[in-house]
Amino acid sequence: MPERGSLDIMALSHRSPAVAASVPLRSTVSRPSRPIRWLLYAIGSGVWLSGVLWWVFDRYLLQQTVYGIAQHPLQVWWLRLHAATATAAIWLLGYLSAMHVQRNWAARLRRNSGLLFVSAVGLLAVSGYLLYYVEADRPLAVIADVHWAVGLCAPVAFLLHRGLRRARRAAVAPSVSPPLG
Ligand code: HEM
Ligand code: HEM
Repeated sequence: MPERGSLDIMALSHRSPAVAASVPLRSTVSRPSRPIRWLLYAIGSGVWLSGVLWWVFDRYLLQQTVYGIAQHPLQVWWLRLHAATATAAIWLLGYLSAMHVQRNWAARLRRNSGLLFVSAVGLLAVSGYLLYYVEADRPLAVIADVHWAVGLCAPVAFLLHRGLRRARRAAVAPSVSPPLG
């Protein structure tokens, strides 16, 4: 049973390839609605900025005190903000997996850039989890480096995913489906 606002192009193609070929590609596309896109940008900026700020403070703003090296008082707040926005990011990933990823994956749309972005976020979630529980110094340092490097580059993966939109828009007919999520 096709979802509201979509045509089941794969079911159509079994019955009649000619009918399936005449269905505009965009009729199966799911673009996140405007509020969800803004939520994504807010949460994404929050998790990215808090990670970067924590790293900058840890690298350049440690303070020498009479008791030894101490963190800047703000540093702990960047990590608190990071933990909060990272939790929200994982919730959003779950929401979009159901509302956006599944549908576009089935329709074979933007699979490469989508998969790249999902993999980056997945790696961040796993390495973030390991940052809590790995205690040995060396593995912990490697995990922190991986987390930092993937996190820093994650916006590039998202922009690749998003950036294809303009080129695709020029190649296909106007949308006939409402945004579903
Ligand atoms: C394999 C996984 C994915 C696939 C196959 C996929 C597919 C697509 C497709 C086909 C579009 C174009 C929609 C259109 O032009 O109307 C799109 C846009 C978009 N995708 Fe994905 N996506 C995937 C993963 C994700 C993930 C994980 C996120 C965010 C967490 C995401 C966020 C977005 C956003 C925000 C847009 C709209 C970009 C814009 O402003 O034009 N996608 N995706
Ligand atoms: C969905 C995405 C993300 C998740 C789930 C996530 C999760 C986490 C978790 C659980 C921690 C450990 C917090 C703690 O020790 O209290 C952490 C630390 C950190 N994250 Fe992320 N994070 C994400 C994205 C990012 C991004 C985009 C960046 C960089 C721009 C980043 C940079 C960092 C840094 C620098 C740390 C501290 C590392 C350390 O303790 O050595 N994270 N993250």
